[in-house]
Amino acid sequence: MCYNNFGDKMTDVVPNHVAIILDGNGRWALKRGLKRSLGHKAGFENLKKLSKHIFKRGVKILSIFVFSTENFKRDKEEVDYLMNLLVDNFKELIDKNSNVKIVFSGRRENIRKDVIETIDKIEEITKDNDDHILNVCFNFGGQFDIIDATKKIYLDINKGKINIDDINEETFKKYLYNEIPDIDLLIRTSGEIRVSNFMLYQMAYSEMYFTNTLFPDFKGKDFDLAIKEYNKRNRRFGG
Ligand code: IPE
Ligand code: MG
Repeated sequence: MCYNNFGDKMTDVVPNHVAIILDGNGRWALKRGLKRSLGHKAGFENLKKLSKHIFKRGVKILSIFVFSTENFKRDKEEVDYLMNLLVDNFKELIDKNSNVKIVFSGRRENIRKDVIETIDKIEEITKDNDDHILNVCFNFGGQFDIIDATKKIYLDINKGKINIDDINEETFKKYLYNEIPDIDLLIRTSGEIRVSNFMLYQMAYSEMYFTNTLFPDFKGKDFDLAIKEYNKRNRRFGG
């Protein structure tokens, strides 16, 4: 039996796949008169604790949107800071998430060599972990995911590996960056009400939860409230 942060027994249904568009790091820092980069640091610290909490609740898969293909439009200093955050802290990310398989979704072009090496190392070290999956969407765009999958399918059809009539909603998923089940609950922090080119294919029937809380302030108790809200939803999948 699980207890939430208010001490209540949790009898709620726990979503299998939760995805978070973590937003508001910059505003969190600016509100405190700090540089935006310190907001990213605070966001990363929060993520380590929050992911642990979410997995403890029984969520099998957690997807997080940490860097979009469009984020490259930001100042070089901020982009570099975000890249360094991953390289410098990856050990901690693994240690805090024991028996979690960490996978990365996104384009690898234009990413620094040391960052790619770090990503490869994280995936290699955690590949046999099987309690949970942490899907890190990094240099990710939902439209690119679908476009890149379509290109791979075209190549496989040309090689005779797959027949065009075998392409359906399920087989298409095998060609996405990672074959991940559909999102049950999508959370976005910081008050923005949009999906910003996140996992478009996998959010076909997601329940959506938007909160004004900035990501560094989004704690376990806030997640538990999202689960409460999720349990009030009537999921019909079009039926
Ligand atoms: C989210 O916080 C983290 C990343 C996109 C890397 P933001 O950096 O978007 O923070 P705001 O939206 O400017 O406050
Ligand atoms: Mg933002």
